Amino acid sequence: MHAWLDFNSPLSPARSAAMVERLARGNPRTVVDLGCGWGELMLRLLAAVPDAVGTGVDINVEHLATGRANAASRGLADRASFVEEPVADFSGGPGDVVLCVGSSHAFGDAKPPAHTAVALRALRGMVGTGGRVLFGEGFWQRPPSGDDLARMWPGASADEHMDLTALVDLATSAGFRPLWIEAATLDEWEQFESGYLAGKEEWPASHRDHPEAEEVRASADAHRSMWLGYRGILGFAYLTLVAC
Ligand SMILES: C[S@@+](CC[C@H](N)C(=O)[O-])C[C@H]1O[C@@H](n2cnc3c(N)ncnc32)[C@H](O)[C@@H]1O
Repeated sequence: MHAWLDFNSPLSPARSAAMVERLARGNPRTVVDLGCGWGELMLRLLAAVPDAVGTGVDINVEHLATGRANAASRGLADRASFVEEPVADFSGGPGDVVLCVGSSHAFGDAKPPAHTAVALRALRGMVGTGGRVLFGEGFWQRPPSGDDLARMWPGASADEHMDLTALVDLATSAGFRPLWIEAATLDEWEQFESGYLAGKEEWPASHRDHPEAEEVRASADAHRSMWLGYRGILGFAYLTLVAC
């Protein structure tokens, strides 16, 4: 279902290459990817830093299997581990670089937006002074109106996210300095959401008589409606943070 996506976040090849280059500069020995999915960013970083070892943590067994297969096909299997475990239970680490992209909700039961502060505090505990965290998180590009919210996910509320300034302030108050602040462009969002939806559209198109085809189509309809509701309003920030 994710055949159209390199990453499970709105991230272009050009931006990911620049991130990898930036993170590789510190010559990290250990990389931890929390809520890694199939761990594409971690694998690209390991490919760029030949001595580094990486651990990806996720609860989705299919994504983890994809990560292991990709690691093997790129000759990285001896340096990349994929662990099936909730992030909140992970006791490995610390890492010289910790990646947390789109997975701040995995650090405990705190509700949005408090979960972002919980995640940042936990991440600060996973790197030593000078260590790097790449934190990918949603934010409001502009305050959503009531009508905007009604077109998003069920129960969407304006206080679920903060703006970019408040997000960066939260990171600094958790003990980081922002090395690099960037946010997904509309084009990256469109590639991501369209790629995600294309995966959902293709399967029922070629399995018309399958009993689950209608269910998959309905789930694509629901997701498309949400995406067109938050398009241009929900942002996604990539903060490269240095622990201080
Ligand atoms: C939006 S995806 C991002 C994946 C990856 N970081 C990327 O950017 O490609 C969020 C990931 O968090 C994982 N996840 C959600 N809750 C989790 C938890 N409690 N523990 C570990 N992983 C979790 C999901 O399975 C999913 O792979």
